[in-house]
Amino acid sequence: MDPIPMPRKNSTAAFTALIFSTLVLLYFYSALLSFPSPKRQPTRESRFLPPHCNLFRGRWVFDPNRKPVYDDTCPFHRNAWNCLRNKRERMDSINSWKWVPENCSLSRVDPFRFLGMMRNKNIGFVGDSLNENFLVSFLCVLRTADSGAKKWKKKGAWRGAYFPQFNVTVAYHRAVLLAKFQWQPKESNPNEGIYRVDVDIPGDDWVQITKFYDVLIFNTGHWWGPHKFPKETPLVFYGEGQPIVPSLDFMDGLKVVLKNMISYIKKEVPSTTLKFWRLQSPRHFFGGEWNQNGSCLFDEPLQEPQLDLWFDPSNNGVNKEERELNQVIEEALQGSSIQKLDLAHLSEYRADAHPAIWLGKKDAVAVWGQDCMHWCLPGVPETWVDILSELIRHNIQGGDAERT
Ligand SMILES: *[C@@H]1O[C@H](CO)[C@@H](O)[C@H](O)[C@H]1NC(C)=O
Ligand SMILES: *[C@@H]1O[C@H](CO)[C@@H](O)[C@H](O)[C@H]1NC(C)=O
Ligand SMILES: *[C@@H]1O[C@H](CO)[C@@H](O)[C@H](O)[C@H]1NC(C)=O
Repeated sequence: MDPIPMPRKNSTAAFTALIFSTLVLLYFYSALLSFPSPKRQPTRESRFLPPHCNLFRGRWVFDPNRKPVYDDTCPFHRNAWNCLRNKRERMDSINSWKWVPENCSLSRVDPFRFLGMMRNKNIGFVGDSLNENFLVSFLCVLRTADSGAKKWKKKGAWRGAYFPQFNVTVAYHRAVLLAKFQWQPKESNPNEGIYRVDVDIPGDDWVQITKFYDVLIFNTGHWWGPHKFPKETPLVFYGEGQPIVPSLDFMDGLKVVLKNMISYIKKEVPSTTLKFWRLQSPRHFFGGEWNQNGSCLFDEPLQEPQLDLWFDPSNNGVNKEERELNQVIEEALQGSSIQKLDLAHLSEYRADAHPAIWLGKKDAVAVWGQDCMHWCLPGVPETWVDILSELIRHNIQGGDAERT
């Protein structure tokens, strides 16, 4: 029995060709960069965002010299995502791809410099486990600049760290739907019931804490569906304490919650707080849903022309939720002061970078299926960290700060 899906076949030849073409591209790219330009010095270019630079659009380039900046001993790991410890195959390859945005380059965050810039400031993530995945990566990267980093779980934080050398706290508040929701059993039969969602009340874990943070990163996404809330125990939406009639489906519920949470953020979060909304990253289940032997044993990133086949809603594949959700989220964000952190497109390529069957527990795959939704650490989330920290730097210091 071979659980490995089709794309793996012939991959050695394809991979060699890909490396070759990548090297050729790299050669031309570096030749271009080294060509003296009176307008833009390459060193400066990497330090602030030039015009036309869109960090979210670009391509992955294979760089065999690229190495992860932390290993499996980082104390902030979550077991299921600690792919080095779980002996996931091909971790070298996963970590050798470098994201090259269009019209500019993305340098790796310098954790000393970043924490220095953030001295006496705090960064908070609010949302579901994909934001937790992001946070763990951030903590492990930053820890390389402050080995005294300590676990921090105050103020309702689910997971976090304090960096004593810089007096910086970075933490995650779990609020999978962002709005408050709770199990409401039937009086007649406590085994049956509903999940009540109060669309106008933020979840307990983050409602009181936003003023503590100088930077906030929100997300929500993969809980908005029947796999988390089946018909027998549905989500029921409440507004101003009363059930909303007629009742809302998942997407309409999401829209109402987004509208309310975004206006709560506008009202309650100080205007000086830097706010980001991180778009949903895609899942990569091949050949079936997560509970139908869906698999993600890929040797290399997807090619650009494959992305629409995988993710365009009109193709009705199992992974189409990402773009549907993001469209709703982007519409909701319009006109708000929350900046869009669009990690979706760059992540769409990386079918090769999920924990898959290497989950660190014997029966995990039999029980839960492969994990083709969260991301291996170290791995793709370090690119998210590079982008986020670059945008934070850009917002705090402005484009020209590095020249002084
Ligand atoms: C890159 O620069 C070119 C030329 O200035 C521009 O047409 C293009 O839209 C830019 N790409 C992005 C993603 O901004
Ligand atoms: C640490 O940062 C907080 C703000 O997050 C500030 O109130 C506090 O005074 C700082 N502590 C020191 C020792 O600088
Ligand atoms: C998943 O794979 C197992 C083992 O090969 C098989 O017994 C089961 O029927 C498959 N399930 C689905 C939904 O295809």
